[in-house]
Amino acid sequence: MKSEQFLYALVFFLGLSVESSFCQNLGSQLSRSSKDPPHPPVPCQNHLDQFERKSKDFTTIILKNAVPVTYCTKSVNDYLAFEQSYKDLTESQDKNNVSCRSLYFNVDRLGVVETMYTNLQRVWKMGFCDDCYSNTSTSTLSNTTKDFFYYWKEINDCITNSSQSDPCLKCMSHYQKLNSFFDGIKKEKGDQICFDLQDAMNRTRILWSVKLNCCRDRAPSMLSFTIISAIVGLLPGIFYIAFYFWRRHQDRFDFLSDTNSPLPEPLIPENSPLQNLPENEYEPGPSGATASTLPRSTGAIKKEKTATADESDDDLIDCNKK
Ligand SMILES: *[C@@H]1O[C@H](CO)[C@@H](O)[C@H](O)[C@H]1NC(C)=O
Ligand SMILES: *[C@@H]1O[C@H](CO)[C@@H](O)[C@H](O)[C@H]1NC(C)=O
Ligand SMILES: *[C@@H]1O[C@H](CO)[C@@H](O)[C@H](O)[C@H]1NC(C)=O
Ligand SMILES: *[C@@H]1O[C@H](CO)[C@@H](O)[C@H](O)[C@H]1NC(C)=O
Ligand SMILES: *[C@@H]1O[C@H](CO)[C@@H](O)[C@H](O)[C@H]1NC(C)=O
Repeated sequence: MKSEQFLYALVFFLGLSVESSFCQNLGSQLSRSSKDPPHPPVPCQNHLDQFERKSKDFTTIILKNAVPVTYCTKSVNDYLAFEQSYKDLTESQDKNNVSCRSLYFNVDRLGVVETMYTNLQRVWKMGFCDDCYSNTSTSTLSNTTKDFFYYWKEINDCITNSSQSDPCLKCMSHYQKLNSFFDGIKKEKGDQICFDLQDAMNRTRILWSVKLNCCRDRAPSMLSFTIISAIVGLLPGIFYIAFYFWRRHQDRFDFLSDTNSPLPEPLIPENSPLQNLPENEYEPGPSGATASTLPRSTGAIKKEKTATADESDDDLIDCNKK
């Protein structure tokens, strides 16, 4: 029993010491390598291998963020590493002062290395990805990009939160904010906008006008809601103004009735034929319009008004751009 335990302890101890000596070896190797000159000439093959790895990483992250387009904001670090590896490859020399460029570039008509680089870089340029950043080399997003995604997050949160109730009414103001912010960028930059933004806006517009159908049938109800609330809001004002004029009229009447104490004669003598006119048959006006024609015409005007207001409302929420 005891000897067995001793054996185990011995084996364990031996194992430990072997392991620690191995670690020491590795450590001394590491420290030795860090003492080497800072930039040892690296074979061009190593630079090519590095370029291959970085191209692969960049390709992977582009494809992972291709639909919906988010690769501009997601792949910047891989893009920078890819650019750096290409720079290293083209600017380095071998031990024998042979430039790597002369080994891999312009040695045949295909120029595969250069073609690979150009094509991958094209994907970055094609998406106007530099436009997302105020300084791509430090991967700092521009204020425009930050603001856009702030508004974008607001409306998306709003829509997800109000999935049960009516998102069109609730999120209308968020949608308008995002939309007008994007239109402002577009006015300034034309079509050369960071594609992450363009795609996000496009998707939000489609979500809003096609999937949620917030344009056609909701806009009029929103409009009538606005009109009704405006009228209701104005009612007290109208009431006070009317009351004020009525009071003034009343005061003047009181003043008149105070001075000429006997009441004035009724304007229409009691047995005049005018008194017997039925209520509806008033005199036609100079143009021959009677009261009965009036409501119809005002109704027509009202209809026209709502029609034009409808159009401007559509413009506002930008539902024509799908
Ligand atoms: C490479 O060039 C450097 C200076 O440019 C020189 O000092 C060195 O001797 C050269 N090495 C070879 C192998 O030619
Ligand atoms: C971007 O940042 C780098 C590193 O800080 C700096 O050298 C460069 O000048 C900056 N570029 C611009 C356009 O600000
Ligand atoms: C971006 O916003 C920050 C803080 O809001 C501000 O300090 C900076 O000047 C802005 N940059 C530009 C280019 O407008
Ligand atoms: C809306 O959603 C966001 C993010 O999902 C969450 O932080 C927020 O609390 C939600 N608001 C409400 C009222 O549910
Ligand atoms: C917006 O989406 C539509 C439909 O998916 C597409 O045809 C159009 O090219 C997109 N526009 C942009 C700028 O991505």
